[in-house]
Amino acid sequence: MEMTPTFTIRGFEQNDLDGVMEINRTCLPENYSASFFLDVHAKFPEGFLVAVNDNTVVGYIMCRLERGFSETSKFRFVKKGHMISVAVLPEHRRKGIASELVKQAGRSLVEKEAEEYYLEVRVSNKSAQDLYDRLGFKQARTISFYYHNGEDAIVMNKSLM
Ligand SMILES: CC(C)(COP(=O)(O)OP(=O)(O)OC[C@H]1O[C@@H](n2cnc3c(N)ncnc32)[C@H](O)[C@@H]1OP(=O)(O)O)[C@@H](O)C(=O)NCCC(=O)NCCS
Repeated sequence: MEMTPTFTIRGFEQNDLDGVMEINRTCLPENYSASFFLDVHAKFPEGFLVAVNDNTVVGYIMCRLERGFSETSKFRFVKKGHMISVAVLPEHRRKGIASELVKQAGRSLVEKEAEEYYLEVRVSNKSAQDLYDRLGFKQARTISFYYHNGEDAIVMNKSLM
């Protein structure tokens, strides 16, 4: 029997800030100030989503709308979505929450006519790479020494066209 998801996805609200920052600190070494989260939200609210379970925020995704060179055809300047951060609390993982967050943010990007959706992921973060693979992202290139500890990043990209 298929399990019914017990979470809902909705747009980030200012009241969610503490919860989102706590998830960010728990799950990722890249942490940001409150004003950074609020600024990302103000610029593209539809790209900042939270997953809620029993009135508690258990995951989030935040994306930025950018313009830049395409990852696939080097001389084309395109509108693209940058997934800045996504995380789900450990006790709520493997329930499809991140997949749903990534897909819904992708739909917001399509509505804004973004042509591509990209992100950076640590070379060592195989579980996240698996997640993005399954959602149709392809490895585009690596960036050496991208992270504070000197680790390389893989840039993964998905066409939204
Ligand atoms: C990566 C992360 C966001 C995934 O969240 P999640 O809600 O558990 O992901 P989903 O349930 O949607 O997983 C979908 C698929 O991704 C892959 N996947 C996710 N976590 C995995 C893991 N720990 N090991 C192997 N594959 C994994 C699987 O293919 C999974 O499908 P399955 O459960 O049917 O096998 C979560 O593990 C997390 O918050 N990690 C720490 C923060 C982080 O690394 N963020 C990404 C930075 S780029």
